[in-house]
Amino acid sequence: MPDKLRVGVIGAGRWSRTAHLPGFTRSPLCDLVAICDLDRELAEARQREFGIPDLYTDAEALLARSDLDVIDVCTRGDHQDLVFATLEAGKHCLVEKPVCHDYRDVWRAHELARSKGLLTKVGLTFRYAPAVMYMFDLIRDGFIGEPYIFNGYEQNSQWLDPDVPMDKRIHKTKPEGEAPWGTDLSREGITVSSLEGYGAPTIDIGLECVGADLGRVVGLLANMVPFRRKTNLDTERTRLNVDDADMFMGEATNGALFSMQSSYVTVGNYPGIEARIFGSEGAIQVRLVEEFGEIQTIKTAAPDAVEFVEREIPRRYFAPGARLDDHWSTAFYGNLVHNFMEEIVAGGDVNQGDFAQSARVQEVINAVTLSHREGRWIDLPLDRSLEMPAAETMPW
Ligand SMILES: NC(=O)c1ccc[n+]([C@@H]2O[C@H](COP(=O)([O-])OP(=O)(O)OC[C@H]3O[C@@H](n4cnc5c(N)ncnc54)[C@H](O)[C@@H]3O)[C@@H](O)[C@H]2O)c1
Repeated sequence: MPDKLRVGVIGAGRWSRTAHLPGFTRSPLCDLVAICDLDRELAEARQREFGIPDLYTDAEALLARSDLDVIDVCTRGDHQDLVFATLEAGKHCLVEKPVCHDYRDVWRAHELARSKGLLTKVGLTFRYAPAVMYMFDLIRDGFIGEPYIFNGYEQNSQWLDPDVPMDKRIHKTKPEGEAPWGTDLSREGITVSSLEGYGAPTIDIGLECVGADLGRVVGLLANMVPFRRKTNLDTERTRLNVDDADMFMGEATNGALFSMQSSYVTVGNYPGIEARIFGSEGAIQVRLVEEFGEIQTIKTAAPDAVEFVEREIPRRYFAPGARLDDHWSTAFYGNLVHNFMEEIVAGGDVNQGDFAQSARVQEVINAVTLSHREGRWIDLPLDRSLEMPAAETMPW
C-alpha cells in the first residue's frame, strides 16, 4: 500500500463540501486526486476551492482509473449502484448512508468487499465525534460495567415549518420520474424517512454502547406535519405521508434495554443527538447539539458520585488539523475520513463503521419498519427470506 492513498470523490454537493472534502484535504495520509459530479459547474467550484487536480462528470470514467485507491460516494439518492461499481473496480469505498435500503444488500456489498480484500466505511458520522470516541473508550475500559439501558435521541427542527420543502434541492424545473415517496396515505404505507436518514447513526452508537445486537424490537413511525411543500417550485402544501417522527424499543441479546427516537420536526439544533448509557458501574451521557458555541459534551456519573459531571475531551480524539472553531460537520467527518485512511494504510482487518456494521443498523431499521406495518414485536436476526417493505428513496 502506498504511503499516501489516492482518492476520488463522487458528489460535489453540500455535504461533500462541508464534511468530506475538508476531511480528505486535512488527512496527511491521502491525496485528493479527482472530483466527479453530474453538474460540471459544481464540480469546477469544488475543484477550485479544494485544489483538486482532475474533474469528471461521469462516475464510470473515474472508476476506470487504475491509479486510485479509494472512492468516496457522496451523492444524493440511491448509493447502491455506485457502491457495487466501486467495489467491482477494486477500490476501497466510503459511502453515505444508507448503503442500500435492504440490509441483505448491505451484507452482499460487505461480502463482495471482503472477497476482494477491500475496506469499507459508511457515513455513520457521529461515532467519530470526539465525545463519542471517548465514550466508547470509557466503555471498553469498563467504566459502565455491565450495560443495562441505552437511550438514543436524534432530534432537530429542520422540517418543523411546513413551508420548508421536503425535497431541499433547488430545482429549476419540476423533477420528473421521481420515486413516489409520501404518496401512500395508509398508516402502514408511510414512507421511511427520519428513521433511516437521521436515526441510523444513533442506532449505530447504541449498538456499540450495549455491545450486542438487538434480539427483538417494537416501534412506530408517525407523520406529525401531514401537509407540506414538496419542492421549492411548489407554492401549495400537499399531503405527504412520511415518517417525520418515530420511536422504538428493543431488547439486546445480552439483556440490555434499548430505546430510540428520531425526528426532524422536534425543536432543537443540529445534529441533535443525545446518547445515554447506564450500567452496573457507571453512566455516560453524550450530547452532540450545537448550542452556544459548543458542539459536543460528555458527562459521567458513578454509583458513589451520582451527579453527572462534564469531562474534558482529550486532544487525542481530534483529527490532524482539527480546530476548536470547526463546524461539527468538519470536526466529526474529519475524524471519520482520517480514521478510514489510517485503517487502509495499516493494512489489517480493523475496520470500524464498515458495511457489516451498517448492515446491522439497516436490519434494525428494516425490523422497526416491519414492526410498525404489522403492529407487533419483530425478532432479530430477520428471516432472510422475508419480503421487505418496499423502500422509497427520499431526496437526500
Ligand atoms: N452522514 C451525515 O451526517 C450526512 C449529513 C448530510 C448529508 N448526508 C448524505 O450525504 C449525501 C449527499 O448529500 P448532499 O446534501 O451533499 O446532496 P447534494 O444534492 O447537495 O449533492 C449531491 C451531488 O451528487 C451529485 N450526483 C448525484 N448522482 C451522481 C452521479 N451518479 N455521479 C456524479 N454525481 C452525482 C449531484 O449532482 C449533486 O451535486 C446524501 O446521501 C445525504 O443523505 C449525510
